[in-house]
Amino acid sequence: MTSTAITMPAPTPIVALDVPSITAAHALVDRLGNAADFYKVGLQLYTAEGPRVVEWLRGAGKRVFLDLKLHDIPNTVRGAAQSASALDVQLLTVHAIGGEPMLRAAVEGGGATGILAVTVLTSMSAQDLESARGHAVTRVADEVLRLAGAAAAAGAHGIVCAGTEVAAVRAAHGSVLRTLVPGIRLGGTPAHDQARVMTPREAAAAGASYVILGRTVTAADDPHAAMRAVLAELRG
Ligand code: C5P
Repeated sequence: MTSTAITMPAPTPIVALDVPSITAAHALVDRLGNAADFYKVGLQLYTAEGPRVVEWLRGAGKRVFLDLKLHDIPNTVRGAAQSASALDVQLLTVHAIGGEPMLRAAVEGGGATGILAVTVLTSMSAQDLESARGHAVTRVADEVLRLAGAAAAAGAHGIVCAGTEVAAVRAAHGSVLRTLVPGIRLGGTPAHDQARVMTPREAAAAGASYVILGRTVTAADDPHAAMRAVLAELRG
C-alpha cells in the first residue's frame, strides 16, 4: 500500500508594519531585507500615509496585505476593494459579520486581490460577542465556523482566525478557505496583550496558510535574526 500522507505547504509569513509613519516602516523593511517579502499595512499606517505606503512597498517588490477590516454597504465595499485591487494589493480584509452580499461585493470588486473575512476578533470573548450581537453565544469557535461558512459561500479567498480554530475550519472547508493566523510568538518571547498565542511551528502543524508576525519579530532586539528563526520553524 502506498503512503497517503499529505504534506501541507508551509504557511506564508507576513510581517505587520504596525508603525506610525512611512519613515518607521522604511527602517523596519530595511532591517529585515530579503528575510521578508510580504508586509501587512493596517489602519494606523494607512490612515497616516495613505496609498503611497502601498505604492512604495509594491515598487520595492514586496507583496502587501491591506488590513483595513472593511464593513459597510455592499456597494461601498465593492468600490473600496476595487481601489485596493488598483493598488495591486495581494490581500484585503473585510468583516464577515457584514453579511454574504457584502462579502460577495468585496470578492467581485477585489478581482485578483484575495479577500480575507475577519471572523471573530481574537480580543473578543463569548461574553463580549453576546453583548455586541444580542444573542447567546456558547462557543466562540461555533461563531467562527458560521462566519467561515458565509465567507466560503461568497467565494472569499480565506478567513482570519485564531490558530486554535484552524483545524476546525480546515475540517469544514478543506483547502477552499485559506486561514490567516495572528498572535504568533517564538518560544520564550512575551505574549503581550494576545490572549491566545502559537509558535510558528505550531501554526505550521495546524495547517495555517498565512501567519502574521508582529512584535515577536518587530520588537526583537535583532528583527532579522528573529525572522530567520521564524522561517526555520515554518519550513520545519
Ligand atoms: O504584535 P502582534 O503579533 O500581537 O501583532 C499581531 C498583528 O495581527 C497586529 O497587527 C494585529 O492588528 C493583527 N491582528 C490580531 N488579531 C486579529 C487580527 C489581526 O492580532 N484577530
